[in-house]
Amino acid sequence: MLAFLNEELAALKKAGLYRELRLIDPRTHKIFCSNDYLGLSKHPPVIQAAIDAAKEHGAGAGASRLISGNSPLHEALEKKIAAFERREAALLFSTGFMANLGAITALADEPDTVIIDRLDHASIIDACRLSKAKLQVYPHKDLAALEKTLKRSAKFRRRLIVTDTVFSMDGDLAPLAGLSRLAKEYDALLMTDDAHATGVIKFDNPADIVMGTLSKAVGSLGGFVAGSRELIDYLCNKARSFIYSTALPPTVCAASLVALEIIEAQPELRQKLWANIRLLSPKAESAIMPLVIGDADKTMALSAQLFERGFFVSGIRPPTVPAGESRLRITITAAHTEEEVKCLATLLRELTPAAARLT
Ligand SMILES: Cc1ncc(COP(=O)(O)O)c(C=O)c1O
Repeated sequence: MLAFLNEELAALKKAGLYRELRLIDPRTHKIFCSNDYLGLSKHPPVIQAAIDAAKEHGAGAGASRLISGNSPLHEALEKKIAAFERREAALLFSTGFMANLGAITALADEPDTVIIDRLDHASIIDACRLSKAKLQVYPHKDLAALEKTLKRSAKFRRRLIVTDTVFSMDGDLAPLAGLSRLAKEYDALLMTDDAHATGVIKFDNPADIVMGTLSKAVGSLGGFVAGSRELIDYLCNKARSFIYSTALPPTVCAASLVALEIIEAQPELRQKLWANIRLLSPKAESAIMPLVIGDADKTMALSAQLFERGFFVSGIRPPTVPAGESRLRITITAAHTEEEVKCLATLLRELTPAAARLT
């Protein structure tokens, strides 16, 4: 009866698309594919905050926020996030994936349309599908195509535009000013997914709904939505991934609180990150640098060659990226040393002509 499992797995192997978990030892390999952009997951005060919170509040929250899982740490973190994002209020979710799922399904239903960039994150796509709203996709960053879609969408009760701010597999930036102008002109809501921007890029976000995650530059775990007080009260009542899921452990809240304080108080961390980014690529727009190889097998072979030389850069294949666009997704962090980044640059130039595209 379960023969289809083996058939599907064999097909994935044949196509070079089979995924396997790996254990990477940071003592033997320099990791260049983590989203811990500021190195805060290993920062001693962040770790200490988690330890102290575990001693005081225990290891888990015990229930969802609306039952008995709420704590002063959750509320303090939401207040901190709201201030950080310069919004009235914020709501925590257990992951960024769940923040997208909860917000989009609460804001859009059958009479509505959600309009998204072709390269938006999987969690946005899944949320749109689950919402029952009409899903419309515009070509990557194509404002003219988006405008055409908006013109055709007057019949929908609500129009929700959702975009990654930093695209997770390409590292490029959404045209936020243009998106905001169109949203206003066509009476649409604009939601941004700031997962790879928070703590990395300082910018004025024009979105009505700001989604972010604490799992990348903030160094721990959890998602959030920030916006007006009404938006947050609405999500607290309607977002199913918030209502029906256990609250984040207090340890995670405490770590994130301290991490956000460090991001604000120590701009030199972000400066170090950008200095490292510039060492590898003068034209990068974020900490994510794709090296598109094309073929999935060739991409994985290159990743393996780097691994043999002590560098872990994961290969990204379909369906995460479109067919024929397999790539190494290189990420830089503030925790890398100048020497490590330079070493990787030299090695990449040795191993693939594609490295020339970084400069
Ligand atoms: C753009 C984007 N949105 C959302 C998520 C989901 O965030 P999390 O890992 O916190 O669930 C990710 C990360 O995988 C992401 O890259």
